[in-house]
Amino acid sequence: METGRVKVAILGTGTMGRALGRGLVTAGEIAASDLHGTVRHGERARELTASLGFRVDTDNVEAARGADVCLLCTKPHVTSKLLREVAAQGALDHRPLVVSIAAGLSTRDLEGAAGQRVPVVRAMPNTPCLVGAGMTVLTPGRWSGDAELDLAERLFRPMGRVLRLDEEHMDTVTGLSASGPAFVYVIIEALSEGGVMMGLPRKVATELAAQAVDGAARMVLETGRHPAALKDDVTTPAGCTISALLALEDGKLRSVLARGVQEAARSAGQLGKPKS
Ligand SMILES: NC(=O)c1ccc[n+]([C@@H]2O[C@H](COP(=O)([O-])OP(=O)(O)OC[C@H]3O[C@@H](n4cnc5c(N)ncnc54)[C@H](OP(=O)(O)O)[C@@H]3O)[C@@H](O)[C@H]2O)c1
Repeated sequence: METGRVKVAILGTGTMGRALGRGLVTAGEIAASDLHGTVRHGERARELTASLGFRVDTDNVEAARGADVCLLCTKPHVTSKLLREVAAQGALDHRPLVVSIAAGLSTRDLEGAAGQRVPVVRAMPNTPCLVGAGMTVLTPGRWSGDAELDLAERLFRPMGRVLRLDEEHMDTVTGLSASGPAFVYVIIEALSEGGVMMGLPRKVATELAAQAVDGAARMVLETGRHPAALKDDVTTPAGCTISALLALEDGKLRSVLARGVQEAARSAGQLGKPKS
C-alpha cells in the first residue's frame, strides 16, 4: 500500500480536514478522485465539493467503507461517537488504517470505539500544514507497526515535518506544536504593535515581525544551534537588543510562554473525556 494507490476518507472536513485534503491533492500524493470527505451539514458539503475539487458529502459510513485510510478530523467530543457509529455499520470490517488527529483521544480510546482489531495511528498536526510548513507527530496504536506509520507519514509529509514519538508525549505535543502557532501569532501581533507605536505602517510592521519570526525559526532548525547561542549573536554588548531583552525578562516573557505550553498540554489531556 505504501507506494501504490491509496483511497482516503476524511471524516470531518473542517479547518484541519480541508488543509490535509488540499495538501494531499496539491502534492500529487493522492488523486482527487481517491479522496472522500464528509461534514455534518449537506449545504456545507456541496460548497466544499465545489471549492476543494474532491467529493464531500455527509455519508461517513460509505466514505469509511471505500477507504484504505480513515482520517478522523472531527472535534474530540465527536470523534469516538463517529467511530463507534461507522464500526457498528460494518464500515471498518475491511480493517482500514484509522488515523485520528483529535486532541486528547488516546489510541486506546480510539481502539475501544472501533471495537475491533483495526490498526490505529494517532497524529497531531498543526495549521501551518496549510502552507506546507506544518509539524505532525505520529504515535502507533496496539495493532499498528512500521507499515502503518509509514503510510500515515506518507499522508502528512507533503504538509511539512513529521516525527514519531511515544504516546505519553502526545498531550505535550498538542500544547506545544498544535497550539503553538496561536502563541506565535500573538507574539507577531505584539511585535508589530511595537513597530506601529514607533511609527511604522501596520502592514510593514506585520511583515517585518513575521519575517523575523520565520527567519529566526529557520536559523534554529537549519543551523541546529541552541536558541540561546543564536540570541547571543544578536546581542551586542551595551546594545539595543540586550536592553530590550532585560525589559522582556522583567515582564517574565519566558515563564509566561513556558507556562502557556504547560497549561495547553494539561487542557489537551482533558479534551474528549467525559466532564465530571
Ligand atoms: N485547529 C487546529 O489547529 C488543530 C491542530 C491539530 C489537531 N486538531 C484537531 O483537529 C480536529 C478538528 O479540528 P478543526 O479545528 O478542524 O475543527 P472544525 O473546523 O470545527 O471541523 C470539524 C468538522 O467536523 C465536521 N463534523 C462534525 N460532526 C460530524 C459528523 N458527525 N460527521 C462528519 N463530519 C462532522 C464539521 O462539519 P460541519 O462543518 O458541517 O459542522 C466540520 O467540518 C479536532 O479534533 C482537533 O483536536 C486541530
